[in-house]
Amino acid sequence: MTSPNHVLTAAARTALCEWYATNRTRTSAMFDLVSDEAYYARPIDLRHPPVFYEGHLPAFSFNTLVKKGLGRPGIDARLETLFARGIDPHESKAGEGSATAGWPSRAEVRAFADEADRQVLEALSAGAIEDPAHPLLQRAEAAYAILEHEAMHQETLLYMWHQLPLAQKRRPAEYFLDVDADPPTQTWIAIPAGRATLGVDQEDEIFTWDNERGALQQDVPAFELEQHDTTNAAFLEFVEAGGYQSPKWWRDEDWEWVRSKERAHPQFWERDDRGWWWRGMFDRVALPLSWPVYVSHAEASAYARWRGLRLPTEAEFQRAAYGTPDETRSVARRYPWGNADPTDRYGTFDFATWDPRPAGSRPAGQSAFGVDDLVGNGWEWTSTPFAPFPGFTPIPSYPEYSADFFDNDHYVIKGASPVTAAPLIRPTFRNWFRPRYPYVYATFRCARHT
Ligand code: AVJ
Ligand code: FE
Repeated sequence: MTSPNHVLTAAARTALCEWYATNRTRTSAMFDLVSDEAYYARPIDLRHPPVFYEGHLPAFSFNTLVKKGLGRPGIDARLETLFARGIDPHESKAGEGSATAGWPSRAEVRAFADEADRQVLEALSAGAIEDPAHPLLQRAEAAYAILEHEAMHQETLLYMWHQLPLAQKRRPAEYFLDVDADPPTQTWIAIPAGRATLGVDQEDEIFTWDNERGALQQDVPAFELEQHDTTNAAFLEFVEAGGYQSPKWWRDEDWEWVRSKERAHPQFWERDDRGWWWRGMFDRVALPLSWPVYVSHAEASAYARWRGLRLPTEAEFQRAAYGTPDETRSVARRYPWGNADPTDRYGTFDFATWDPRPAGSRPAGQSAFGVDDLVGNGWEWTSTPFAPFPGFTPIPSYPEYSADFFDNDHYVIKGASPVTAAPLIRPTFRNWFRPRYPYVYATFRCARHT
């Protein structure tokens, strides 16, 4: 039986176990893509080396569900502490400490992971993981939290791998870059005034993170939004017009970053005397002009300002993605294209590709207003600082998950990238990053007032 306070049917348990197994298999395949020398290296100096993540995923699942949820004893106190928590990218902490020092051997990490997996799977299949009287176990919260946590980290792993030298990665035989397209014609789409849904009553979803909880709707005045993501072609105009050489387009702190780090183009680009290149996951190719550009919030904002435009707010994104012209009261559909499950026909997500596809290549996924790629092919930057919705309460199974980042220096991204797992795709799911973090698979499109 499923009621607001009871979600764990036998079928749901089976699905949890299958999801855990799928996650573990996928994570393991990701570690197989990088060479041994990369294991203790730091592709992004603000992030831990791969060894941390191989321990963090099973440790977080075990700590949260088995230890904190079910109150069972630990496996290895030192490793459970070492692997408890990642670090948030913060400029001031760049390059601190040496990479290899203090990390356990891979064999030790794997032995710990195997035991943690065994106990987590046992809990998922037969443990008392749903208990209305226990904060972590209400509606099996901890079980869903650990599964979504691992799925999110798979994206983290891949954007870290993306920064590794190609020589440290094993290119899969089927690797394919979909570069064969002209950039789509950019047009303005008028979105009439209406209501947007930002947050959701937690009982209306099987699982939600704390930052999306609380039914919240907002009136959104009429505005215009670009039909397509900003392509590499469009962004190249800004680069070649000297966009990275003029403080005029940048906020002070963003300009300081451009200047001091000598940034002159997106992180995913490279330039030599033969021209511009895209640094793909497993190959370097001539810059695909039709692809959405992947940039930081700082770069997206500078581009928009250069064009006399702006980024959309989170509420505007919600309205454009999930609203319909005739619906004024609530979220009208679960996905931009309607209510059909998120499959490859509608968008580029769920590990469909390692790099983007051409903008506009999934027209079946257009929103009710005819906007392309709002969910998939790259997260979408908004101008909205990451902040709690009214009535925010930290999620019991991971109280620091969001609360640590309400500092007015993280911005909301919405939608999905090519490597965002399908179960994370829901209207209220929110993601966030610092404005000058350039590694994420995030793109943008511009908005303007009507
Ligand atoms: C929500 C993707 C910003 O990776 O920093 C994983 C998710 N938090 N472990 C991150 C997360 C703790 C988080 N993001
Ligand atoms: Fe984590």
